[in-house]
Amino acid sequence: MNEESGLASEVSQTLTLTLSPMEEFSMKVFVTGASGFIGSAVVRELIESGHQVVGLARSDKSAASVASEGAEVLRGDLDDLDSLRSGAAASDGVIHTAFIHDFTDFAKAAEADRCAIETIGAVLAGSDRPFVVSAGTPGLMAGRVVTEDETFDAPLPRFSEDAALLLTSQGVRVSVLRLPRSVHGEGDHGFVPQLINIARSKGVAGYPGDGSYRWPAVHRLDAARLFRLALENAPAGTRLHAVGDEGIPVRDIAGVIGRHLNLPVASVPLSEVDAHFGFLGRIFSYDCPSSSALTQERFGWHPEQPGLLADLDQGHYFKNEMVVSG
Ligand SMILES: NC(=O)c1ccc[n+]([C@@H]2O[C@H](COP(=O)([O-])OP(=O)(O)OC[C@H]3O[C@@H](n4cnc5c(N)ncnc54)[C@H](OP(=O)(O)O)[C@@H]3O)[C@@H](O)[C@H]2O)c1
Repeated sequence: MNEESGLASEVSQTLTLTLSPMEEFSMKVFVTGASGFIGSAVVRELIESGHQVVGLARSDKSAASVASEGAEVLRGDLDDLDSLRSGAAASDGVIHTAFIHDFTDFAKAAEADRCAIETIGAVLAGSDRPFVVSAGTPGLMAGRVVTEDETFDAPLPRFSEDAALLLTSQGVRVSVLRLPRSVHGEGDHGFVPQLINIARSKGVAGYPGDGSYRWPAVHRLDAARLFRLALENAPAGTRLHAVGDEGIPVRDIAGVIGRHLNLPVASVPLSEVDAHFGFLGRIFSYDCPSSSALTQERFGWHPEQPGLLADLDQGHYFKNEMVVSG
């Protein structure tokens, strides 16, 4: 070995030895939905953990939001499949959190989601590059706490999980991250803000029936950490549950809302739930507790952020009338 190559080898050894685990595993990650409530937290989590992020953005506003998190922007759309192909092709892994939350044409949104998953999957096929797909925790049978190993036996309104898991047969290291009914935190524009708005407009914080139906929930920062762990570690075909609260009785959610808005808390008879809560009535009166025990055991993930009731008690949900999805 001459002096120069000896030095080079020494330098390379020193570099190898001084690389932190974070740098060694650094990936370039393509994130769809990077400007969203959950996706933006995922972007931040990835960057803080040493990964690089390319975030899909369909407008100037979304692009600015993605860039402000420190990610590179890829302009595109779920309907522009070439933008998804090029994002996936240039990445070491993909996290899919984009979804068209248009409840007036959910079938079209679900189809766009399926196409996006298939398109990204086709690019990743045969590689070991990970693909993490967002889905929902199942509601199976009242009284049963659903685990990661349980699958749906009824047709679902969206195809995310099925479309993703089908990709395992094409050699994609795909995992499904099931999110509970409520992913909460500052900036939430999902179901809980809608319940708050309904309580304000009706003058009562209502809950369906005897209020015993249980809602699972997770803080978005805990969910974001699990997306990263799934990307880094999940074997093909894994289902993970990002669940912090296994199941909060809906009367307790109504109780906190009533206390903060200074409104009475009352049962809404099941026959009046649709009229009172609109489309949310059916969702609010569905018992769907979910466990994350297997996810916690398999990935060493544990929720660290406040649960839904404690988060509601922090007050940020009640500062202003909230803009909600859909
Ligand atoms: N939040 C919850 O409580 C909850 C609970 C269960 C499951 N989930 C699921 O978790 C995932 C993320 O939810 P989220 O709460 O973060 O949703 P979100 O805040 O509504 O964000 C949706 C993201 O998708 C993007 N998007 C929408 N239509 C698009 C299109 N046509 N092309 C490209 N991008 C598009 C949005 O971009 P723009 O910024 O341009 O709008 C945004 O970045 C979704 O699959 C959602 O269904 C959420």
